[in-house]
Amino acid sequence: MVFMKGGALYRKYRPKKLEDVLGEDHITETLKNAAIQDRISHAYLFYGSRGTGKTTVARILAKILNCETRQQNQKFFAKGEPCNECPKCIDVDSGKSLDVVEMDAASNRGIDEIRDLKESIKLSPTSSKYKVFIIDEVHQLTKEAFNALLKTLEEPPAHAVFILATTEYEKVPGTIMSRVQKFNFRKIPIQKLFKKLKDIAKIEKIDIEDEALELIAETAEGGFRDAESILDQMGSLEEKITADKIESILGKAGFKKISNLAELVLNKKTKESIEAVNAIYNNGLNIVDSTKELIHFLRKILALKANPDFEKIFIEEFTSTELAKLKTLSVGADEKFLINLLKSFIRAYSEMRYSPFSFIPLEIAIIENLK
Ligand SMILES: Nc1ncnc2c1ncn2[C@@H]1O[C@H](COP(=O)(O)OP(=O)(O)OP(=O)(O)O)[C@@H](O)[C@H]1O
Ligand SMILES: [Mg+2]
Ligand SMILES: [Zn+2]
Repeated sequence: MVFMKGGALYRKYRPKKLEDVLGEDHITETLKNAAIQDRISHAYLFYGSRGTGKTTVARILAKILNCETRQQNQKFFAKGEPCNECPKCIDVDSGKSLDVVEMDAASNRGIDEIRDLKESIKLSPTSSKYKVFIIDEVHQLTKEAFNALLKTLEEPPAHAVFILATTEYEKVPGTIMSRVQKFNFRKIPIQKLFKKLKDIAKIEKIDIEDEALELIAETAEGGFRDAESILDQMGSLEEKITADKIESILGKAGFKKISNLAELVLNKKTKESIEAVNAIYNNGLNIVDSTKELIHFLRKILALKANPDFEKIFIEEFTSTELAKLKTLSVGADEKFLINLLKSFIRAYSEMRYSPFSFIPLEIAIIENLK
């Protein structure tokens, strides 16, 4: 799905110091300690999924390196954060710093660009202590560009710091890997996404139900940017934003609808299950995607049934009420029945994907299994 890019909310609410970065404590703690001990490395690789804070942390680090308050005030230095008030910090935030070079490897892949970069690396910073190079989507560099970068990483000038970022870790050559400090940005637990969305909605005076916020958090699949962009898009609606409204705009059934359907099926309520399927379809929600969601949902119930310890894995994907619901359903479910259901829903799903009969295979699978 393509969400509106360039929305204002995600820029407005970009964290300005390490402490404000959510859900990546293993990274922010380590960097803060490095800053306090004045042991920031010359090359980093930030990798992990979209919208989890790679660019955000790179910019914070750039501010820490050049912050004037830090350089002038020992006590402040010991905080391991940028001040966000000195001219150096302000320039980074507004994208005007001459000593923080942000480059998108996806659109600067050529040898010429890398040659320019190499020239630029040799030059001392204009007025700051360090020159910071943030290279986004680094996996997209060409082989030649990688080789040029490698040479630089082997002997970086004392004033240069490299922060490489990528969503595709496997595509970064091992030779680069071995010369950088690596940080894995993890997907954000749904509760944390929900909390930030709720805070933003409050400040922005967006009138929205909790269930609708949960649905947005769920749709964003662990990334803040998408979550904030969807909220942004919804924020322009005049009336109160309900979960139903979000569902119809995204064309996607939320947890409640899917869990209701699963419950009906597990309780062998044929008529009501078919009605629920039809309601999803008639409301214009994508029935093929909903079937996929239903399969994932039942699979989780089966996993919890097999071993309740799986709860630990699911805790990041669900709110506590949702998790409680999953657990209740798993306690009541029959394992053999669940396995058969899953098998035939998976078959139905593959038939539905390219079929003009959309929801019919699902309907048949329900009727067959609930007999
Ligand atoms: N860990 C986080 N805590 C709080 N907000 C975050 C976090 N990560 C991202 N955001 C929000 O999402 C927006 C986008 O984040 P950012 O640009 O840092 O993501 P990214 O990891 O670089 O993504 P991409 O891989 O797509 O470049 C930020 O402006 C901020 O509002
Ligand atoms: Mg980025
Ligand atoms: Zn500063």
